[in-house]
Amino acid sequence: MRSFSIVVAADRAMGIGKNGGLPWRLRKDMAFFAKITSKVVADVVVSHEASRQRVNACIMGRKTWESIPKKFRPLTDRFNVIVSRDPHYLDDKPEKSNPLVALATSFEAALDLVESLQSPTTTSSSSIEVARIFLIGGAQLYNEGVRSKDCSHIFLTRIDATVDCDTFFPEISPTEYALLPSAQSHAFLEEFIKEPVEGGVIEEGGYQFEYTVYSRV
Ligand SMILES: NC(=O)c1ccc[n+]([C@@H]2O[C@H](COP(=O)([O-])OP(=O)(O)OC[C@H]3O[C@@H](n4cnc5c(N)ncnc54)[C@H](OP(=O)(O)O)[C@@H]3O)[C@@H](O)[C@H]2O)c1
Repeated sequence: MRSFSIVVAADRAMGIGKNGGLPWRLRKDMAFFAKITSKVVADVVVSHEASRQRVNACIMGRKTWESIPKKFRPLTDRFNVIVSRDPHYLDDKPEKSNPLVALATSFEAALDLVESLQSPTTTSSSSIEVARIFLIGGAQLYNEGVRSKDCSHIFLTRIDATVDCDTFFPEISPTEYALLPSAQSHAFLEEFIKEPVEGGVIEEGGYQFEYTVYSRV
């Protein structure tokens, strides 16, 4: 069950960031992001033990972690895995002792960690049990993630605009991923989180956007 999904919002040029933050503020897309990454769906088979908190994992680069306003991090009800080459990154941080926060020194190590928490042994001291795994950015981590055979889906919020960005999502190879047609993307998302998702073109704050799904070929 090591497979993971990427969640990203990008403009027409696949721009995703500007000056270390998001180039837009889309309340609906933020709510969609929170829902798809937080919702623990019953049919995700894991060896659930009642004493453990069962949550999805969000793997992110250190810069993306730092881009989340302090009052919103760690992301609630999710296991936050920060990827940094500095093994001491968390040492002087208040999150160090938070069971919902962990550090990994490579993307592979992050996947190893969350995979081990998907079916923790009965003797494991972890208070967390991981259901689904998401890679939530930024560009450096997406670059590794899209090339991984373990990446099963890319949930792309496609913003129909050209926005000033300095950070970009990598090319999505058509030989590796297929874009599901609009109605199929919508049906997939509703099945994935087992609740209604707004379909078609959504308008907010002068932007038009749509939730789309790429599936590994
Ligand atoms: N639109 C969206 O959906 C979306 C989503 C997420 C982020 N963003 C945006 O993307 C931007 C941030 O992206 P970014 O590419 O600059 O940074 P990033 O990928 O979030 O983080 C980069 C950092 O991750 C660590 N890292 C990267 N590769 C690693 C590896 N192989 N092994 C160990 N550590 C590794 C390094 O941390 P150390 O330097 O500590 O070693 C590196 O500096 C921001 O503007 C953010 O707002 C947009």
